[in-house]
Amino acid sequence: MSKICLMVGSVYGGADHVAEQLQPLMQQAGFAVERVEQLTDSGLRQLDGSNLLVITSTTGSGDLPDNIAPLYYQLQQQFPLLPQSRYGVIALGDSSYGDTYCGAGHQFDQLLQELGAQRIGSVLQIDACETMEPEQPAQQWLAPWLAELASAQ
Ligand SMILES: Cc1cc2nc3c(=O)[nH]c(=O)nc-3n(C[C@H](O)[C@H](O)[C@H](O)COP(=O)(O)O)c2cc1C
Repeated sequence: MSKICLMVGSVYGGADHVAEQLQPLMQQAGFAVERVEQLTDSGLRQLDGSNLLVITSTTGSGDLPDNIAPLYYQLQQQFPLLPQSRYGVIALGDSSYGDTYCGAGHQFDQLLQELGAQRIGSVLQIDACETMEPEQPAQQWLAPWLAELASAQ
């Protein structure tokens, strides 16, 4: 069974809630889901070829939440090339923050691009100014993302 590595960054629980809502949909689509918070050396070596889904909010001024920052810096420092990996990014933010809108999601997108991974779909930005139910746009985005991922396996 193909696997999706789920990487979640959240301060107040919104992105966590989105991840919890999406996880059964991924499983129903036939993917095993593994939540990843920190990678071992062998986990890093085996990462290429895996499917990655980043779901993160933004804190501070375009910053990564504390519970996903260690993973980001591990990837940035170890720099495992991931040309066989596919990924998606769901970025929660608030457009009233202007230039730093969804900054953490975009930082992850940029890093995964630098590692050579192939993004499926566009980065989904979910604006807290527009919705109190971020799981709804996330669910809509997920269905075609999963279909494309399945056809790429
Ligand atoms: C102190 C603070 C700083 C924030 N900074 C940003 C920011 O720079 N850019 C942005 O798009 N959203 C920012 N946000 C908005 C959050 O990313 C948004 O509310 C998100 O839905 C929170 O998700 P979470 O509950 O998973 O942490 C900030 C929110 C707070 C409370």
